[in-house]
Amino acid sequence: MSKFTRYTISKFYDFAEKHYIRDYERALLVIRKNLVFNESDIILDIGGGTGFILQEIYKEAFMTINIDTSKNMLQQLKNKNIFKIQGDGTFLPFKNESISIVLLINVLHHIHEKNHKLLFQEISRILKKNGTFFIIDLHYPMTFMTKIYTRIEEFTLGKTYHIPSEKILEILNELSFTIKLVNFMGKNKWIYSIKAIKN
Ligand SMILES: C[S@@+](CC[C@H](N)C(=O)[O-])C[C@H]1O[C@@H](n2cnc3c(N)ncnc32)[C@H](O)[C@@H]1O
Repeated sequence: MSKFTRYTISKFYDFAEKHYIRDYERALLVIRKNLVFNESDIILDIGGGTGFILQEIYKEAFMTINIDTSKNMLQQLKNKNIFKIQGDGTFLPFKNESISIVLLINVLHHIHEKNHKLLFQEISRILKKNGTFFIIDLHYPMTFMTKIYTRIEEFTLGKTYHIPSEKILEILNELSFTIKLVNFMGKNKWIYSIKAIKN
């Protein structure tokens, strides 16, 4: 490998590492600001990946569960107090009204848009009455930089499905969730968070 290639690759990963860590930290800050956990809570993190979020909050709940399609991501989560399930958010292996809080953090844009309603129906099914659904994701790319970001993500991870937060709110309203909060963050307000309560 030439010196130049090595330099370019290392710079790319320096950038990516910084970027992703900032994403995680921002997500955690937003969660801390908008959610309060209770010692009787059962928290489900759909697409929880390596368990970054649950590692930070598991001590505050009765039970925490990470369901993710990726075996490799789950393998990196070594904390025995957090349950790990390899599975798909659109088919949740839980009883009706059994979960207190569902987190969906930076996952929705990886799920085909034709399955978004199905995913939300599943979340509504397993959430307890008055249970909380909290989502953080990225809007449809509107600016030059967000379009570039999306292209790089699609090149490395496959097709993505960024859709406007208004569309998410439409589906949640259809499913009779009460919207408690809609917040926009980041440059160009590209990142949104929604807190919805199941009726
Ligand atoms: C960008 S990572 C986000 C990880 C974590 N939520 C966080 O914010 O730290 C997206 C995760 O979603 C998972 N994922 C994608 N589609 C999924 C699906 N249909 N069901 C469950 N997990 C899924 C991926 O395997 C990956 O771990």
